[in-house]
Amino acid sequence: MAKLKISLSIILVIFSLGVFSQSAQWMVSSDNAKKPNPLEINPKNMAVGKNTFSKSCKACHGINADGKGRIQSPSLISETFQKQTDGVIFYKITTGKDKMPSFKAKLKEEEIWSVINYLRVLVNPSAVPPAVDVKLELSADDGQKSITAFVHSLDSTKQPIQDVDIHFYLKRDFGLMRIGEPANNTKADGKVTVNFPENIIGDLDGKVTVIAKVENNFLYNDTESAIGRKWGTALVSGDEKFNHRALWGGRDKSPLWLLFMANGIIFGVWAVIIYVIYNIFRIKKAGKIFIK
Ligand code: HEC
Repeated sequence: MAKLKISLSIILVIFSLGVFSQSAQWMVSSDNAKKPNPLEINPKNMAVGKNTFSKSCKACHGINADGKGRIQSPSLISETFQKQTDGVIFYKITTGKDKMPSFKAKLKEEEIWSVINYLRVLVNPSAVPPAVDVKLELSADDGQKSITAFVHSLDSTKQPIQDVDIHFYLKRDFGLMRIGEPANNTKADGKVTVNFPENIIGDLDGKVTVIAKVENNFLYNDTESAIGRKWGTALVSGDEKFNHRALWGGRDKSPLWLLFMANGIIFGVWAVIIYVIYNIFRIKKAGKIFIK
């Protein structure tokens, strides 16, 4: 009984603490409030901000940050919210309060500042410059069996562009197969190379098509390029595998056991039907004798 009382009072204390802190103002010291955002708003850290938001905040604050997530939470796009300085918002995200978790240990500072920029852009989309067009060129090294993508500006100066994540694919019959690393970022010379995987079956001549894409990138508009190479193993058709009796063979190449079984079933069923009809006639005959 005493134990129950103790645990009950502990629960009560915790509960009232919760109520108390919920009603308390979220105070942020002026030092923290003045802390400037070290990141400019650009498409690159916008991508980080967006990812961080969907990974860590969306569930509670809602997909549009309007507070309509799975739990009751404040809107992060309201006028009152947006009036706060980046420093205040940063402090609140790092420390957390009640149901708002502290992200100090969970996110890097850079991710938090990016998420703040992302929230600013949600209410003011023109704050981030639009993505630009780039050109993607592919070249192949037959000795190394590798493909190099070169990303450069559209104009005649062909300015190399660094840090563009290129997605490489092999064209297959029913879609694209991703090759290369999870991220293949261009180096300072605007280039990145992937090795062609081994044991890839190509067409009848062993030809394979590699496709490279710039896609889902905040800084650059989607673009793609393709290159064909005879680096695969040639596809063999008319293989002798198909020339003997097997399940995958043609009509005249079906396995004998299958022929006997299928035809045996048909024969068996007909035999039963004929036997039944024969017996019906016998019964009729027998009946006549009886009536006489
Ligand atoms: C588990 C749910 C949950 C998650 C996850 C969450 N929040 Fe919150 N957040 C809340 C709740 C609830 C409050 C209100 C806290 C209070 O005032 O008592 C809040 C408050 C805030 C505030 C202060 C709002 C104001 O009016 O000043 C900010 C800023 C904020 N969250 C940003 C974020 C960001 C950014 C993330 C992701 C990195 C995030 N939150 C993730 C639930 C959550």
